[in-house]
Amino acid sequence: MKVLMVLYAGGEAAAHEPRLLAAAENALGLRPFLEAAGHRVVAITEKEAELDRQLADTDVLVTTPFWPAYVTRARIAAAPKLKLVLTAGVGSDHVDLAAAAERGITVAEITGSNVVSVAEHAVMQMLTLVRNYLPAYRQVVEGKWDIAAAAARSHDLEGKTVGIVGAGRIGQRVAIRLKGFDVDVLYYDFRRLTTVEEAFLQIDYALLDDLIPRCDVITLHCPLTPQTDGLFGKERLAAMKPGAYLVNTARGKLIDTNALADAMRSGHLAGYAGDVWYPQPAPSDHPWRQMPNHALTVHVSGTTLEAQARYAAGIKDCLTRFFAGRPIERDYIIVEGGQVVSPSYRMAYTK
Ligand code: NAI
Repeated sequence: MKVLMVLYAGGEAAAHEPRLLAAAENALGLRPFLEAAGHRVVAITEKEAELDRQLADTDVLVTTPFWPAYVTRARIAAAPKLKLVLTAGVGSDHVDLAAAAERGITVAEITGSNVVSVAEHAVMQMLTLVRNYLPAYRQVVEGKWDIAAAAARSHDLEGKTVGIVGAGRIGQRVAIRLKGFDVDVLYYDFRRLTTVEEAFLQIDYALLDDLIPRCDVITLHCPLTPQTDGLFGKERLAAMKPGAYLVNTARGKLIDTNALADAMRSGHLAGYAGDVWYPQPAPSDHPWRQMPNHALTVHVSGTTLEAQARYAAGIKDCLTRFFAGRPIERDYIIVEGGQVVSPSYRMAYTK
């Protein structure tokens, strides 16, 4: 079978770091395994014209959220042999899930593979914003020493209220990591946790529009679905406390791009951070790049070297099972048998 991988370019970094498995040069470390079994591996970085050229005879498509191949309805139609789409990582919104279901294509991702990596990044970015880290760092490299300028926007996280939107694998790990900071934590999820889970995590439930005005920091951890697309538009951003911070390591499209840039320019929000954009890669004139008081990174939180090892192993497991005609790990399945079956996505696709 032909396995097409769309992965980011490794360049110089991949030449020196063999653990950079998700670089196209390294093809998730799976080339020997696949070729020994008689399969053909094509790993590309170009995800428009070259992707379109490769689709006609592709059986399995592997892509990542960091350098997403947008698997649109048109691309699915152009890939008549496509049976399996795998996300090396977590979050399969770059695939048109409804179109995949209609075609009977299985979509799976490596659930859990990078949840710790993202939770650490989200907490790091929360602190980066609240402590005003980047301007203070910048003073160092620019040869300056202006304590007042840095301290005037620097706070303790202790005693603040943090809101977690989406209390799944990542949201819960953020809550666990926040326990040491003596903050009050609220959460919203369309599936409320049990009383025991809430007590263990030390978090209280609130509906989204009740949570928003109560929080000093909000961190997003729900998937991008037709229900959450634009979840934070102009009105919800305006409903946030003046001077609050927003962190988004979930998906760029959860937030209205221009409404956020306006809220940052007006000073209504004190800071924004995260690592997810739409589209990816973000164009050089993406409005978020030049917003004041942001601490954004490129989409890197879920692709630490440890995360790459975990999701590469997960992709190998999926392929091994698929070629042997055995079921893929239940927790990994997003679309199967013509249905969106993942609990985190299902509701948005059920009529
Ligand atoms: P998960 O499936 O364990 O948790 C998602 C939670 O969101 C679930 O509890 C679900 O009930 C909730 N949810 C779904 N729709 C909702 C809605 N409309 N309103 C409120 N809550 C809703 O997923 P996990 O592993 O925690 O990942 C969450 C998201 O984080 C992924 O879907 C992905 O978009 C993003 N992610 C980003 C990464 C990065 O590198 N920046 C890496 C991994 C995930």
